Amino acid sequence: MKWTGSILLALTAPSSALIRFQCSQLVVERLDPLVTPGEIPSPHVHQIVGGNSFNATMHPEKDMPGESTCTTCQFAEDFSNYWTAILYFRARNGTYKRVPQRGNAFFESATGGGMTVYYMQDPLYDTAQKSKVQAFQPGFRMFIGDVNARSKEEAARFRQLTYTCLDNFGSREQETVAFPDRICNEGIMTSLRFPTCWDGVNLDSPDHMAHMSYPESGTFESGGPCPASHPVRTSQVMFEVIWDTRQFNNKEDWPEDGSQPFVWSFGDPTGYANHGDYVFGWKDDSLQKILDTECYVDCKGAKLQSMEEMNKCSGLEPMVEEDIDGWLTQLPGGHIAS
Ligand SMILES: *[C@@H]1O[C@H](CO)[C@@H](O)[C@H](O)[C@H]1NC(C)=O
Ligand SMILES: *[C@@H]1O[C@H](CO)[C@@H](O)[C@H](O)[C@H]1NC(C)=O
Repeated sequence: MKWTGSILLALTAPSSALIRFQCSQLVVERLDPLVTPGEIPSPHVHQIVGGNSFNATMHPEKDMPGESTCTTCQFAEDFSNYWTAILYFRARNGTYKRVPQRGNAFFESATGGGMTVYYMQDPLYDTAQKSKVQAFQPGFRMFIGDVNARSKEEAARFRQLTYTCLDNFGSREQETVAFPDRICNEGIMTSLRFPTCWDGVNLDSPDHMAHMSYPESGTFESGGPCPASHPVRTSQVMFEVIWDTRQFNNKEDWPEDGSQPFVWSFGDPTGYANHGDYVFGWKDDSLQKILDTECYVDCKGAKLQSMEEMNKCSGLEPMVEEDIDGWLTQLPGGHIAS
């Protein structure tokens, strides 16, 4: 049968990309248009990167963040917004100090450190990236993690929300689900990997997670199949955020009981409540086009902006005015470590 060959060829044609780029910081403040839209301020502080139309409310039907005039991301057509909570250091006297961020290797000049974003078709180490995936649609958004998780068991339903203790700046081993319990010379990296199977219908869901699923068996990395309820394989979105803990690495300042001193901006001192937010905002079909182009990190079809240009978009005027940087007696929003 003649056609078999051409179908196979079509299925295995090189349509493969691993996209990796840096975004500098857009703003750090208490807004969360996904989980608490319209609330000014939102319950806890976030660090946000991406398109500058980020706001307390972002209606999917208005195709926000498509209304942005610039983006802090290296890929000039990516007006998406990506955000996470931020880390604080808790001193022995009980006060809190914000932990700054630092840019990934080669991206050290990104304003505010920002984050590195990936869209993968196959595992990071697979340079062939052969699997076909569907790009997200305008209005798409998702969340991963549980703000209330404080134990290994509660965090277990999420795969791959991790910490890497950067003994060296290039350390990429021994990921943990709790905060590292020792001094990390060069900082702590959080890696957030989102689920990769979409229900094909809903751009969002009440918990911002139900429209997405992990593979039914195996993992994204092992090429595990998507469940019938969520049949559409998407790219794996991953954030890497590096927390610059270097100024807090003096053991004398750490708790006397030997525990680690870092807490999320909503009070989690365990690390199990690691979570992230994503609001899709790529221009037209630019994401699908790049995904369908054969490339590994260095994607020729992508319009890139220089670090200088992306930094220019950084520094959005915060909607919420409050001290998030001083030595604080409680975390912004009234949280304490618990
Ligand atoms: C954010 O929303 C406020 C009103 O809620 C509006 O005045 C402001 O222009 C918006 N900012 C952006 C960047 O869209
Ligand atoms: C608490 O400890 C920090 C770190 O040692 C110090 O900078 C800060 O001034 C102290 N605050 C108070 C109120 O003692």
